[in-house]
Amino acid sequence: MRSALLWASTNPRLASTLPRRRFVRRAVRRFMPGETREDALREAARLATRGVPAILTMLGENVTTARETREVVDEYGRVLAEATERGLDAEISVKPTHLGLDLDPGLAARNVAELARAARGRGTVWIDMEGSAYTDATLDLYRDLKPEHDNLGVCLQSYLRRTEADLESLLPLAPRIRLVKGAYAEPPDLAYPSKGDVDARYRALGRRLLGHLDDGGDGFVGFGTHDAALIGPLARDARSRARTAERFEIEMLYGIGLRAQDALVAEGVPLRVLISYGAAWFPWYMRRLAERPANVWFVVRSFLR
Ligand code: FDA
Repeated sequence: MRSALLWASTNPRLASTLPRRRFVRRAVRRFMPGETREDALREAARLATRGVPAILTMLGENVTTARETREVVDEYGRVLAEATERGLDAEISVKPTHLGLDLDPGLAARNVAELARAARGRGTVWIDMEGSAYTDATLDLYRDLKPEHDNLGVCLQSYLRRTEADLESLLPLAPRIRLVKGAYAEPPDLAYPSKGDVDARYRALGRRLLGHLDDGGDGFVGFGTHDAALIGPLARDARSRARTAERFEIEMLYGIGLRAQDALVAEGVPLRVLISYGAAWFPWYMRRLAERPANVWFVVRSFLR
């Protein structure tokens, strides 16, 4: 089921037909408050009343013209400005191929740098990690830009066999790292196929990051996961030491783990929730279904209704 959903996420025909079906549009609402900037900002404001800051992301990937990337940069500029006007603590998270990585790595780097400048003083600009074909180019982009733009963060995926080496190579940069398990279809020679291994790598990488910070290293870690078995020990570990207590947060996706989110807030564990918006949600939604194939029942139920 996971493989079928990840295959569907890259199928252009499904991407052009399924999003038009009403039952699919209804089901996707569980994971995003709406397609417009206003929908995302309204939800960010609602989260703020619960003491939870946000990360905003406009969905889209693999754009094919420089003009499209200009529109993406302008949209992020607008959402940052409107969030500031409303007094919201909202960061942004961007996909390199949405900003032109397929077209020209230089263009993607200029776009990310422009956003980092726009967000200076407002928080981190997180660079998402896409499929493994983009890992090298994404890390090169981060290495080039981080020395000048301290507010840039990058995502690392614990399912990739290479990530331990990548993390070691980034530590001298005082990196801001979002650690996730990984959401794409990857072959076993590149990614651990078993969930047990992916979780064990996550734990080990998380501890390595906290150890680096505790030893006086600079940087920040966002644990991007809903996995209670990982969050509990890592958050306890992070909070037990002064240096790490201020340099970490848990990051979750809108609509997932709501009870766990409330519990973290009640315990005073720093939490940020990532809110997605935009019309290009199909591949992203298929990846959310693939993470938990039981979610397909929501789509089926929506169809039956
Ligand atoms: P796991 O999949 O083991 O799930 C743990 C528990 O969480 C499940 O048992 C279930 O209860 C709940 N859960 C998880 N996913 C669910 C879902 N879709 N629906 C309902 N319940 C669910 N990936 C990537 O490759 N590149 C990236 O840049 C990012 N960025 C990113 C940012 C943030 C803030 C988050 C939280 C996640 C990402 N991801 C990502 C996605 C990530 O790689 C991973 O696929 C998901 O977080 C799901 O994995 P968990 O760590 O939650 O564990």
